Amino acid sequence: MKILGIETSCDETAAAVVVDGRTILSNVVASQIDIHREYGGVVPEVASRQHMLAIIPVVDRARSEAQVGWQDLAAVAVTKGPGLAGSLLVGLNAAKGIAFAQGLPLVGINHLEGHIYANWLLALGPGQPEPAFPLLCLIVSGGHSDLVLLTGHGRYRLLGRSIDDAAGEAFDKVARILGLGYPGGPAIQQAARGGRPNAYHLPRAWLRGSHDFSFSGLKTAVLHAATGDRGSERAREGRPAPDERARGVKLSEAGRVAREVPVADLAASFQEAMVEVLVEKTRAAAEQHGAAQVALAGGVAANSLLRQRMKERVPLPVLCPPPDLCTDNAAMVAAAGYYLYRAGRRDGWDMDVIPSLRLSSTA
Ligand code: KG4
Ligand code: ZN
Repeated sequence: MKILGIETSCDETAAAVVVDGRTILSNVVASQIDIHREYGGVVPEVASRQHMLAIIPVVDRARSEAQVGWQDLAAVAVTKGPGLAGSLLVGLNAAKGIAFAQGLPLVGINHLEGHIYANWLLALGPGQPEPAFPLLCLIVSGGHSDLVLLTGHGRYRLLGRSIDDAAGEAFDKVARILGLGYPGGPAIQQAARGGRPNAYHLPRAWLRGSHDFSFSGLKTAVLHAATGDRGSERAREGRPAPDERARGVKLSEAGRVAREVPVADLAASFQEAMVEVLVEKTRAAAEQHGAAQVALAGGVAANSLLRQRMKERVPLPVLCPPPDLCTDNAAMVAAAGYYLYRAGRRDGWDMDVIPSLRLSSTA
């Protein structure tokens, strides 16, 4: 069964054709990163206009690369939320138009569901087994840090989430503080390569007794350490004298006070703190809820330290989609579409975008 997936929730215009929820025939992503980089983040109005320009060529390319005609498709799956309203609307209306014109069923997908189902795609070869339930999924993206327990297809139980900044949001904000540009996650990962992860003692918010996360204190501690505000001395305790290798940009270049900041050390210490909390809280939730496996999802799951540590520290099979299936794409939407269509999910022509859509707890 071939499903066309469409994804336009943020700044990637994406379309893909996937067979039986697992085999990718095509996966086309038109990224707007270069356009938004100039502004240091996604500008919603610009994103929406870019989606309008790209959506038809991207869908056409996904179909031609997959070598399928409209008659070969069984359904159209599309992200209906959460995301930017103006961006979501472009993909949703394109999907409705195609489904109506071709007489195909329409399936609305939660973007987070999409990220989860990236773990079903056969990225590692045909023999890769299906993920096993109960599956504990850590979804870490630009807008979410959720711990979700899947007890079956489409059956989710939200165990915990960030009470302030999402993990990707923290990576992006800290990259901005350090003058590393946008998007922040890959930039921090790169900068951290030359830094010492224990150079700064940054705070970890454990929120004991809950599976929730909090990253705003960590972000603020990096800001204080970088600008020399109160609190930075505490953060620097135990830090060896900065050497030339550790010295980085002058913060004046990033629009802040003129002071040399050891960017590599701060990036490495921040990444270490983030990864430690994400891994330990995932491990604890998996143990407490008797998960059979752990799966990573969302853009931050592309982080190599997070992937490596999760595999080292969690005593269960840990699934990580390849980095390009962790960040936004439409193959994951088509995969979710297949399993949820088979489970009976259908949407009508009155389906609308839901910018603040949440994963409903059905498990
Ligand atoms: O899932 P995604 O592509 O879009 C959303 O649904 O938000 O996630 C984007 C987020 C951004 O915050 C980006 O900085 C982060 O994922 N990200 C990373 C890495 N690659 C992307 N964070 C840490 N390390 C990475 N290698
Ligand atoms: Zn996403």
